Amino acid sequence: MTCLRRSLILFLVATALMTKAESVPLLSIDSLIRQMTIEEKVGQMTQVDLGVIAKGSICNLDEPRRLDSEKLRKAMEVYKIGSVLNVGCGSGTIPLTDWRLIIGQLQSENRLRSRLEIPILYGVDAIHGVNYTVGGTLFPQPIGQAATWNPTLVEKANEITAYETRASGIPWNFSPVLDIGRQPLWSRFFETYGEDVILSSSMARAAINGLQGSSLNDRYHVSACMKHFLGYSFPLSGHDRTPAWISPRELREYFLPTFKAAIESGARTVMINSGEINGTPVHADRSIVTELLRNELGFKGVAVTDWEDIYKLVDVHHVAANRRAAVKLAIDAGIDMSMTPNDFEFTELLISLVYSGEISEARIDTSVRRILQLKQDLGLFDQTVYPSSDYPEFGGETHSRWSYTVAAESITLLKNDQKVLPLNLTKEKVLVCGPAANSLNLLNGGWTHTWQGVDTRFNTPGKTTIYDALYAAAPKGHVLYAKGSSLDSVENLDECLKLAATVDKVIVCLGEQPCTEIPGNINDLSLPIAQVKLVQALLASGKPVILVCCFNRPRIIHSIAQESAGIVYAYLPGDEGGRAISDCITGKVNPSGRLPFTYPAATNALMHYDHKASEELDIDFSNHAYRPDFDFGSGLSYTTFSYSGATISKKSIAANDSIIIQVTIRNSGDCPGMEVVQVYYRDLVASITPPVKKLLTFQKIYLENGQEKKISFTIHPKDLSFINKELVRVTEPGEFELMIANQKIPFHVE
Ligand code: GLC
Repeated sequence: MTCLRRSLILFLVATALMTKAESVPLLSIDSLIRQMTIEEKVGQMTQVDLGVIAKGSICNLDEPRRLDSEKLRKAMEVYKIGSVLNVGCGSGTIPLTDWRLIIGQLQSENRLRSRLEIPILYGVDAIHGVNYTVGGTLFPQPIGQAATWNPTLVEKANEITAYETRASGIPWNFSPVLDIGRQPLWSRFFETYGEDVILSSSMARAAINGLQGSSLNDRYHVSACMKHFLGYSFPLSGHDRTPAWISPRELREYFLPTFKAAIESGARTVMINSGEINGTPVHADRSIVTELLRNELGFKGVAVTDWEDIYKLVDVHHVAANRRAAVKLAIDAGIDMSMTPNDFEFTELLISLVYSGEISEARIDTSVRRILQLKQDLGLFDQTVYPSSDYPEFGGETHSRWSYTVAAESITLLKNDQKVLPLNLTKEKVLVCGPAANSLNLLNGGWTHTWQGVDTRFNTPGKTTIYDALYAAAPKGHVLYAKGSSLDSVENLDECLKLAATVDKVIVCLGEQPCTEIPGNINDLSLPIAQVKLVQALLASGKPVILVCCFNRPRIIHSIAQESAGIVYAYLPGDEGGRAISDCITGKVNPSGRLPFTYPAATNALMHYDHKASEELDIDFSNHAYRPDFDFGSGLSYTTFSYSGATISKKSIAANDSIIIQVTIRNSGDCPGMEVVQVYYRDLVASITPPVKKLLTFQKIYLENGQEKKISFTIHPKDLSFINKELVRVTEPGEFELMIANQKIPFHVE
């Protein structure tokens, strides 16, 4: 019997078992727990990688990936595992039908092999769409989604991601990353929603609502997993998983709010930070995993470790003498499930700790209850893989259009001297060059088909690069191409310069190696010298140069930004990014993205827009030290917007007042456009050094040319609060200033 035939029969059997399986009569969770052995309970707390149960060797699996019955027997009958994740270390994306076959078979085998038939919970990283399912819709990375300043769009992107994740048979997405992006060196900066608490919290709510919807028990929503709790994004060195020094006050001021917002939105699971804060690895820190997360924030869901992080308490952090001690530390801290992920040592050690009485059975019952509740709420006891006919939009045009819309609204126009943009390709000839000009991988970044996103084999056919899109938008001969430079080395520069001499303008598409986590560590934000040299050579040609930046993080472009006529920051715009960039620079779309971070002028000038006054003191004792290349919230349009008539309903505000802020915005230019109305404030004197400005609220609006709108915001004194020395969120009385564009309004809080 051929392999294909066997697979087909297996698929039909698995599907039959799943679709016809009468729903398992659902016992109450507590009665289920009462029936469970210690081994079954600890098994529920064990999560292994697909590689542990698939054919082949653990980091070199057979293709196509299929379950191995002997490995299944061991995992299910001996260790009674409760969860599986991802695609097998070292492996990549899986075809939709294979996902459905694997998960259908996993559940049916589990019914046959496990005494209580508790379904397996499958989790996957779907960071910017279903990056591990072939042909799935890939959105801009989270940093670009934040740049839209449009939470409705971000919710839609996550809703579609949930749809396609469930289509793959997977009910749990290890997303969103809610670590605040305040260390631009960090390799995962692109996975954050940027540096600001208000913008990031708004995106956090949107992501949770999009992924989870109003009920987890439906075929189009999944459980989210807010990560990585917390303080993971602020390593002192900028290197992933290295020490973070964050005081309890700063932790609550900057790193906690996004998780608080996600919990308020109903986030059902959390993944713990692999790193350490102030000398304590978070996986061993009860003050964070239990006291802060559960007692202070009221989180009631499942806390899963990150990759092998219990063992890392021994091997990396050296806070446990051996793995048995590490398991005790992590369980005492409050961990519910161990992403163990390549063996069963965690399972054996925890069973031993319970039998010895070092960990009570009541303690593991607490975790098992959370895990079973999640499985029940996800509907896994009734149905796990829904019919593929329920997902007609998977990877289709409708979803691609949404991905395009998110990308188009994220693109940020940072510079446009002499209106060098938009291009008029019917009259102008352009040269497109640079490492990101003709690459899909550099538009997507890490977590794309493979962990690091560098493999070109799995790219979805038919997606267009920046060059493809510009070429298609122009008369023949008006768009020329020469690479000019790879990421790190100049290539055929002469040809590039020769072509530059024949065109009107030059588009240099700068890029960064797709990466994530430790492989993405750098020691310098500077743009690789080869790309700088390419731009400098083209600038010397005398033709107007437009930079298009497709970076994971704000690489330093100061030396080339000054002379470049135009700068477009595209973040990592996803599979539709080529078209979105082309449509923005040719004027089909009026750019409306705004930076979700402060763009540093130098690799060590890492300040934020909400810096303190002391950071402005310059070497000449003026207060101009804060000189980023581009400010948080900045971004140009092909039209202009004018602000007038900013008012506040009360100039003196009592504690329980609500205040109406109004401002009129007019599109004073000659084309329609979207503007992000940003309301900032300053607390002039406070018991903690106050930021020079802080985002209070925002709203993205569309205006036809000549149209004007009066926008209203309702705020409350609590919106002006901060964390004081006693770690309490307070709004102190005193003088404040409201700032909207060029309008300033002083007001008083009683
Ligand atoms: C990785 C990442 C985490 C991811 C997990 C599973 O180490 O830190 O974000 O969800 O492992 O892939």
